[in-house]
Amino acid sequence: SSVRTHKVAVIPGDGIGIEVTAAAIEVLKAVQDKVKGFELVFTEYNWGSALYKQTGSYTPKDWLDTLKGHDTIFFGAVGDPDVPDHISLWQLILPMRQHFQQYVNVRPSVVFKGIDPPTRCATAEGGELDWIMLRENTEGEYAGQGGRSHVGHEHEIATEVAVFTRIGIERFLRFAFETAQKRPRKLLTVVTKSNAQRYGLVLWDEVAQLVSKDYPDVKWDRILVDAMTVRMVAKPQTLDVIAATNLHADILSDLAAALSGSIGIAPSSNLDPTRKSPSLFEPVHGAAFDIMGKNLANPVAAVWSASEMLRWLGEETAADMLFNAMKASLAQGIKTADLGGTHKTTEVTKAICDLIKGM
Ligand code: NAI
Ligand code: MG
Repeated sequence: SSVRTHKVAVIPGDGIGIEVTAAAIEVLKAVQDKVKGFELVFTEYNWGSALYKQTGSYTPKDWLDTLKGHDTIFFGAVGDPDVPDHISLWQLILPMRQHFQQYVNVRPSVVFKGIDPPTRCATAEGGELDWIMLRENTEGEYAGQGGRSHVGHEHEIATEVAVFTRIGIERFLRFAFETAQKRPRKLLTVVTKSNAQRYGLVLWDEVAQLVSKDYPDVKWDRILVDAMTVRMVAKPQTLDVIAATNLHADILSDLAAALSGSIGIAPSSNLDPTRKSPSLFEPVHGAAFDIMGKNLANPVAAVWSASEMLRWLGEETAADMLFNAMKASLAQGIKTADLGGTHKTTEVTKAICDLIKGM
């Protein structure tokens, strides 16, 4: 038949990851019923902390090969109060980003209608905060290099080696310039810390300078990461596309999420722009131990991530519909507690599904 089929691996993971993934699948099914012409084939994998507690491992042995057979991966969150965070992160989410060379992590932030931004500067949509933060996603400070010696002794040593490669920086910054080029303002800000970090981040500056020559229509500037925090709060309207290292963008994107209303609405796409491997879509937030199992989690971050996944799969109409339904529900004041609302996870999800049905 002429129905386009997309194979989606679903990994709900832990905590509220399970709740918001259920919400995302529900709205994806609603939009698929409405738009027609394509079919999402979901395969769910119950990998996470429960499996770790049973077997000592977050995943079965051949898990990365299993995932390779899918077009995309939808992920909830990982983390458990009883498991050290570096174990859970390095057994589940970080290996996927590296193994599948998902070298760009795309994190948009917008202040939508219906959301009261927490600062005097960021005003509602049409206003001053509409960013795409791009995070280098495979190397830098999270390359995984380092070690510990003389463990437990007074002179114990730990190293955490940041690794920057010319190839890694260049492929990432090309994506950043291309992203800026497609936006109306054609504005890119490259964040580094090349005053203090004089090798890796000076290389970033040099590569940015070189790559920029291929994109003469993009207006770009550089800023040090500490000054960037101030600019994000005080002059949000001067920013559009932002590119930063793995660690810097991890931190700055949480700030961006807070400035746009809540971490509960922030989506992310972990992309392999070459499309050799599946890309992964997930909310920015984690397992949120303080609210898990209470139907309090904001599903918007996961729903927005699902919309981005549809766009990546080429289902533009469905992606727009999902995004617009999500925006409309916020504008109608259908909001969870993190946004000052009173609605539960399942109520927001149902409202978005109903809006889709009515479109
Ligand atoms: P977190 O993002 O889980 O929670 C931070 C705060 O934001 C909490 O107060 C939480 O209630 C709130 N929050 C987060 N998402 C929300 C949502 N959808 N709706 C309403 N409120 C929301 O970060 P935290 O507490 O630092 O980490 C908890 C666990 O999650 C840790 O094990 C951490 O390692 C893990 N984690 C996993 C990530 C991933 O899987 N990609 C990302 C970040 C953290
Ligand atoms: Mg983070």
